[in-house]
This record gives sequence, structure tokens and C-alpha cells, in this order.
Amino acid sequence: MSEKVIVAREIPDAGLRILREAGHEVITLSDASQPPPSHGDLFSALPGAAALLTTVTEKIDAGVLGAAGRRLRIVSNMAVGYDNIDVEAATQRGITVTNTPGVLDETTADTAFMLLLAAARRLGEGERLLRAGEWHAWGPKQLVGPDVWGKTLGIVGLGRIGEAVARRARGFGMKILYHARSEKPGAEAELQAERSELEDLLRDSDFVSIHTPLNEGTRHLIGARELSLMGESAVLVNTSRGPVVDEAALADALAEGTIFAAGLDVYEEEPKVHPKLMELDNVVLAPHIGSASIETRDKMASVAAENVVAALRGETPPNAVNS
Ligand code: GLV
Repeated sequence: MSEKVIVAREIPDAGLRILREAGHEVITLSDASQPPPSHGDLFSALPGAAALLTTVTEKIDAGVLGAAGRRLRIVSNMAVGYDNIDVEAATQRGITVTNTPGVLDETTADTAFMLLLAAARRLGEGERLLRAGEWHAWGPKQLVGPDVWGKTLGIVGLGRIGEAVARRARGFGMKILYHARSEKPGAEAELQAERSELEDLLRDSDFVSIHTPLNEGTRHLIGARELSLMGESAVLVNTSRGPVVDEAALADALAEGTIFAAGLDVYEEEPKVHPKLMELDNVVLAPHIGSASIETRDKMASVAAENVVAALRGETPPNAVNS
């Protein structure tokens, strides 16, 4: 049966094709050149829809879910994180929420490693210097930063993405520490990763990369006190969710030289970035591109669409996060 499927943002064709081939009426709210749909846009588009396909830019709260009416059966988030969706409110209304795990791990790990290398080796700063016409000669002390290879990497949250980062780090001869709720015997055996309390990990790591989901337990997990435990040559990388790090405290730590540098892909109030961070040279700022490879975005769109199609067929979708 053909159902109305609201797609909040223009997604890759790979996903749209799956929805259309299943016979659904697909309504895309904003095309690639437009900003994300507002709350108001969602409110007016949702009545009568059976499915809503969202991205990280849409905040799906109880109000939006209520506006949809009783036909709505699934909110399919084209992302692995789903902190933008009020899952409890969805569950209360019998709406399934899904995400896209497993298809973006390697690409996001590449992004984390890219930021780690760029922050340590001062790539952004160097490029700004060069583009400003201020690079006059090779310099023996110019733009030097700490080596990455052979150092210690602390991974906060050793899930699929954290493990993919650890595998890359092993290729750089790095020692791996991890902080996670449960022990990871597989990673310990394969990657010689050592489990550590968060404070010890921060003290003992040259690089810290965050891969934990955002929830009430991880909001501002890294604040002024945690940053003060890291060394002045340490580098922090965050590709998970902005609010896991207290951005104002990070800006202070970077300005004061408490830590050497940071590489960020996510922010507390996207697309806003703390103004103090914008002024600093020792932070690499990426615009939430963790999963932004052509292949991975195709896969994410396909998985998100397959979840919709399964739910509308009356099946439990493969990636339901509630039931
Ligand atoms: C992107 O941020 C995601 O959660 O997939």
C-alpha cells in the first residue's frame, strides 16, 4: 500500500529509489541547497504521513510527533546518533525510531584520524598562513607539533567507531587506552587496548578521541576539570556529539595552553560555534562531516529507507532503537 513518506532533507538517490520502488509517495521538505525544515515546516507537512525520514538537523520532540497524527509509524534517522529524537515520546505513541548503525564506522574513524593528524601537525594554521601569502620560507621551527606515531591514544567510548579509530592508531604504532562501560575483550586481544578509568586515561594519553553517544550521562563529560588532567602537549578530538564536551571550557583550555590543540567535527549548538573557538589557531574546526563520504552517505540513505519500507510493511525494522 502506498503511504506518505516525509523526507526532511534531500537525501542521496540511493535512498529515494528504495522508497519509490516500494510504491510510496515521497515528499522532500528541503532540497540540498536549502536550510533544514523548521519546526513549523514539519508541523504542516506531517499530518497524514506514515513515515518521517530525518537527519541530525531535525529536532523531533513530542510536539512534532503529536502533530503527525495516528498514521505515523516510524521516524527513521539517517544517522547513527539519535539524540535529536525524543525516543520516549515516540515509544509512548507506538512509533518506531531507527538509526543507521554499522555503515559509517570506518568513514567516521577516518574523520577522527584526519582531525587528530591535522590538529597535531597544525594543518589548518599552516594552510591559513600560506593562503594569506605569509609563508616566506621553510623554517626550522615553523609550525612544529607533536608526533602522532608511537604515542598513546585514549578512546572514550569503545563502540564500533572507537574500535575503527583504534585499528587506525595501531597502524601508527600507537598504544591504545579505552574508557567504556563494559570490558571489551575482543579489542583488548586484537588491538592490545587497555581499559582505563576516565581520569587515568586523560592523564596518560597524548591524544584523546571521543566516541560516546550523547545522553544525560555523557553531557559535558569533558569539562574544565577533565581538560586540566590532560597534558599541555595533548590533543582532544571530538567526532561524536558537541555537548559531550563543554565548549567554553575547551576554548579556555586551548587559549591558556592547558592542552596543545583540538580537532572538532561537532558543536554544542550546531551550526553555531563558540566565538572563542573561532578566534583560536590551535583548533581544527570541521562542519559535522564525520560520515560525509559519497559511499557512506549512499549507504546511510539506503539503510534509513529500508527501515521505513520494513516498518510500513508491518515488520520490525532492522535498526529499531525502541520496540
Ligand atoms: C552523525 O552525526 C551520525 O550520528 O551519524
